Amino acid sequence: MAPRLHLGVFFTGVGPQLLWTEPDFAAHTHIDTFIATAKTLERGLFDAFFLGEGLRVRENRGRIHDLDVAGRPDAITQLAALAAETEHIGLVATQNTTYNFPADLARRLASLDFVSGGRAGWNIVTTDNAWTGENFRYGGWLAHERRYERAGQFVAAAKALWAGDGETVERHSDLVELRAAASVPASPQGRPVLFQAGDSEGGRDLAARHADVVFSANTDYDKAVAYAADLRSRLKTYGRSPGSLKILPGASVVLGDTPREAAEKAEWIQREQTNGPRALAFLEQYWGKDLSGYDPEGPLPAIEPAEGELDPSRGTISIEHRTGKLERVAAWRRLAEERDYSIRDLVIEVNPRHNTFVGTPGQIADEWTRYVSTGAVDGFNILPQLLPGTVEDIVDKLVPELQTRGVYRSEYTGRTLRDHLFEAGA
Ligand SMILES: Cc1cc2nc3c(=O)[nH]c(=O)nc-3n(C[C@H](O)[C@H](O)[C@H](O)COP(=O)(O)O)c2cc1C
Repeated sequence: MAPRLHLGVFFTGVGPQLLWTEPDFAAHTHIDTFIATAKTLERGLFDAFFLGEGLRVRENRGRIHDLDVAGRPDAITQLAALAAETEHIGLVATQNTTYNFPADLARRLASLDFVSGGRAGWNIVTTDNAWTGENFRYGGWLAHERRYERAGQFVAAAKALWAGDGETVERHSDLVELRAAASVPASPQGRPVLFQAGDSEGGRDLAARHADVVFSANTDYDKAVAYAADLRSRLKTYGRSPGSLKILPGASVVLGDTPREAAEKAEWIQREQTNGPRALAFLEQYWGKDLSGYDPEGPLPAIEPAEGELDPSRGTISIEHRTGKLERVAAWRRLAEERDYSIRDLVIEVNPRHNTFVGTPGQIADEWTRYVSTGAVDGFNILPQLLPGTVEDIVDKLVPELQTRGVYRSEYTGRTLRDHLFEAGA
């Protein structure tokens, strides 16, 4: 039997990915949009619908980042509403291990599993936005590696509570202090399905130790192959089988009836995603200086960037960009000069957030079949740019092509999220 692709959608909400400016785009904060999206995905037999977490609106150099003014409502609350409106699709809440508490979060996630009849998932993140801590009287609190230390202890404590038969679970460390018993009975899946997102050494290790699924950032084929090999060797270290962890990289999809139509649409989306203020904010992270006085349609700033690497607590920076800043900026200057790029043109070209799969439904189905057949991935977590357009196109045009190639289900065979992800032959 051909391996099966598993699909999820990561609903990013208001922010740089999802466009909201055209009058016919769905409202990003209205529950009806979430319900309609989840129902469309269920029609397309998706494994999961994900919500991200933002506990504080994004900032850039102390100012609210341009399109983030609406913030993101709490994921578990929203998913509880979706549980009542859907029947099969998994409901995955991103929740951090830095500012939550294990007994409280374990209880809330088990509650989602009850409400949804066994469809709850937890996307474990440590949260990279240092300023988030200020909402919890913690400020920057923990350095990057210490966050992962706390995450490991936190997840182990939550798992013990879910497995605990009412027994008291105790943990005493400088990062997790706990003496608690589960406050609800075992939920339908026993515990929610555990997802992990975060690509550093600490993130990969956490995934190999605890996760059922990784929401990876390694989407390009060669990176996906290398990432899968790395994770599988880590799984071995923890005595786990290679099939016990599903790898779902994030993916952006732009479909067209012809390759040219898809390419033109992708270009339009990318320009819309990178408006002037956002292009400046992107560069400010690298310059470490206020660039708000520059014209985004004009040339790159003539002033030199600040010394020192990027702040690792910045959420918008990919892992490769955490070192080599000055060389990178010098290369960008050469590129901008060579091609006569404005600030905005340059950011569109170099921002790692790009549309990863662009083409006709048949082209993308062929490509995804190669990814899954070679074991590079177990599926994708799609980040839509247009609602309802992206999800409707995928469900109506791409899913049938995947089914024809034998790499996608033709019906749900189980009831729980774990059933979908680990279905026989998948
Ligand atoms: C695909 C992906 C999705 C993420 N989604 C969120 C999110 O919704 N909320 C959040 O606070 N952090 C999110 N994160 C960031 C994680 O919090 C993680 O801490 C961060 O990537 C830093 O860890 P790393 O150095 O291991 O990558 C996400 C990360 C990845 C790779």
